[in-house]
Amino acid sequence: MSSTDTAFRLAVGPDGLAVVTFDLPGEKVNKYSASVVKELDALLDRLAASKEIKALVLFSGKPNIFIAGADVKEFSDASEETVRATVERGQALLGKMANLPFPTVAAIHGACLGGGCETVLAMDWRLASDSKKTQVGLPEVKLGIIPAWGGTTRLPRTIGLAGALDIILNGKALDGKRAKKAGLVDEVVPEPSLRDFALTFARGKVGTKKRSNAGPGGGPQRARPATVQEKLLEGIGRKIVFSKARQAVMKQTRGHYPAPLEAIAAIENGFGAPLQRALALEVEAVLRLVKSPIVRHLVGLFFQMEEVKKETGAAPAVKPRKVSRIGVLGAGVMGGGIAQLAADKGYPVRMKDIKAEMLAGGYAAAAKIWREKLKKRRMTKAEFAGKMSLLSGSLDWAGFGTCDITIEAVLEKLSVKQAVLKEWEAVSTDTAIFASNTSTLPITKIAAGARIPERVVGMHFFNPVHKMPLVEVIWGAKTAPEVTATIFDLARRMGKTPVVVKDAPGFLVNRILAPYLGEAVRLLMEGNPMEAIDRAMRAFGMPVGPIELLDDVGIDVATKGAEILSAAWPSRMPIDPSFGKLVTTGRCGRKTKKGFYIYEGEKRTGPDPSVYAELGLPVPAKGPATQQQIEDRLILPMVNEAAWCLADGIVESPAKLDLAMIFGTGFPPFRGGLVRYADARGIAAVVATLDTLSSEKGARFEPAPLLVECAKSNRTLYGKE
Ligand SMILES: NC(=O)c1ccc[n+]([C@@H]2O[C@H](COP(=O)([O-])OP(=O)(O)OC[C@H]3O[C@@H](n4cnc5c(N)ncnc54)[C@H](O)[C@@H]3O)[C@@H](O)[C@H]2O)c1
Repeated sequence: MSSTDTAFRLAVGPDGLAVVTFDLPGEKVNKYSASVVKELDALLDRLAASKEIKALVLFSGKPNIFIAGADVKEFSDASEETVRATVERGQALLGKMANLPFPTVAAIHGACLGGGCETVLAMDWRLASDSKKTQVGLPEVKLGIIPAWGGTTRLPRTIGLAGALDIILNGKALDGKRAKKAGLVDEVVPEPSLRDFALTFARGKVGTKKRSNAGPGGGPQRARPATVQEKLLEGIGRKIVFSKARQAVMKQTRGHYPAPLEAIAAIENGFGAPLQRALALEVEAVLRLVKSPIVRHLVGLFFQMEEVKKETGAAPAVKPRKVSRIGVLGAGVMGGGIAQLAADKGYPVRMKDIKAEMLAGGYAAAAKIWREKLKKRRMTKAEFAGKMSLLSGSLDWAGFGTCDITIEAVLEKLSVKQAVLKEWEAVSTDTAIFASNTSTLPITKIAAGARIPERVVGMHFFNPVHKMPLVEVIWGAKTAPEVTATIFDLARRMGKTPVVVKDAPGFLVNRILAPYLGEAVRLLMEGNPMEAIDRAMRAFGMPVGPIELLDDVGIDVATKGAEILSAAWPSRMPIDPSFGKLVTTGRCGRKTKKGFYIYEGEKRTGPDPSVYAELGLPVPAKGPATQQQIEDRLILPMVNEAAWCLADGIVESPAKLDLAMIFGTGFPPFRGGLVRYADARGIAAVVATLDTLSSEKGARFEPAPLLVECAKSNRTLYGKE
């Protein structure tokens, strides 16, 4: 028996071993769509009816993807009935897989996520390659849903409650080694021998009892017997396990994300229940979740990220240059972070600073990040040593002549950056690229005196570099498209999401942040306690409050940026004159362990009351502003500046602006971004509140013309309705 359907190839050997290869034509990845489900469903019927098949192995025909999941497009805009039908069809499909009358083996190499992971959970045995490309997991909560093709039901039954909660609630994916440790796969095999191993393994299982439907209630059997501790936790300790999981989710999400909570409820009620009952709970949970706009927002973000993967950063035909070696100027907060990231991705990096202690700090900062990985066993000692050996540094220009790209992260001062560029020109080849990590200074100005301005470009990372996913790519008036495309490509290779923005002071994200941070300082000067301001913004969903952010960015760096932006837009971004005082007393934030807050080691322990005295303020007793007032004072100026940016064409679209704010500042993804927030609130309501604030607090709140226009014509900023 053999057949070639559209997505699945079947070959059955004389020994009754069926080999099914999933290879979706015309696509780089295998994913489930309505037509793929239909095809597999028919194939499973044929396999079940066959008398000759004694065992089955499932392979992928794609080089580094097993099954990436279900096609997100198909459920993002679907009606409730369609979602129910899609989920129930998927569950029925995998039920058929679980009930095949012979042992089934998944030979996993590459991404095996979402519906892919649920497929292998419905099989009897799972083998994984040892490649780093192999990732098995259930990322559904990241899209605002739960694994509802049986994943929420089968994973806890297969690997136990604790491990399953960890994977499902965090949307985790595990490599082969970690998946084996968790009990999610049975064997990890060197990639080149996976195929032969899987075929032999399956032959060895012929005639054995199946695990995929042999457990309690018809669900899968546990992959290996529960330990005493697991038995306790899943027995009398069960209530505590779920209550702890809820507490952890609430702490992490502040209740803004319903999906993990729904997952906990589905697991709590479904674990140990008959399989069909547990599966029905999954369906109901997903139906409740897709009603909320959060799913649309998270899926929208996912599509934006997919878009970025297809872009070049310039015209579609422009090709990036190859980058083999990278230079970094300045080994401070940002330079050190950029050097670490580049070396982490395998690039040899040459650092330069004017101070030996800063260079030493750069090495130390990089080593610290890798040491954390070492501690968590995400890295071996040999890998640690290998990455450290990619870093080198000096106080002079030695070694910069061979760098294809040099990223500048020195002081935020135009004259300094121009001087550094001149010095670099003297040592670099004519094809090398100079990328500035400036936060606010226009690239065109930095390139003004350059010998070859075509190769000067902006590559703006966010702090902390190893964590923040955004890179703004800025082309100056003369930057060559090939140069922009090279930076765009490099940002992606460094694991970041690049967004191209127009060359203007502060570019996009910092320009929008400036009125927010400035207003936070003004709230402080009006007598609001710093922790109340920060708490309000955390409650809104920001990862850190604005005053905390000033400490993280560096009060000195933020002040320099504020001065530049204030000079460009004095009426919208005035600076409170007392703010500069803090820097003169050495209060630069986290990096000097002296900022608005007190620091013990890395830990922010609480507000520093001496700040108030330094600013000439009494220590505030209680904050007079409410959550809503703080939200209006801080978020609406950002909305207003976003409207100015859209009108000025700083960024291509509202969706790109939202992507940049989420990835550059941690603006709450569940809100869909700053522009989505404004649209959801209603532009007329936004304009009305800005008008009130403008009459009460000053002209800096005056609504942007684009907002007024949208309010008048009852349009959203996204412009659809
Ligand atoms: N801190 C942030 O959050 C952040 C975020 C994005 C971008 N930036 C930008 O990155 C740049 C650096 O900021 P930072 O926070 O790392 O500052 P930093 O003060 O921590 O580091 C600057 C480093 O540059 C070195 N330096 C000064 N002049 C030099 C020269 N001529 N040659 C070589 N090194 C020199 C200094 O000794 C120092 O080590 C600035 O342009 C800043 O606006 C900062």
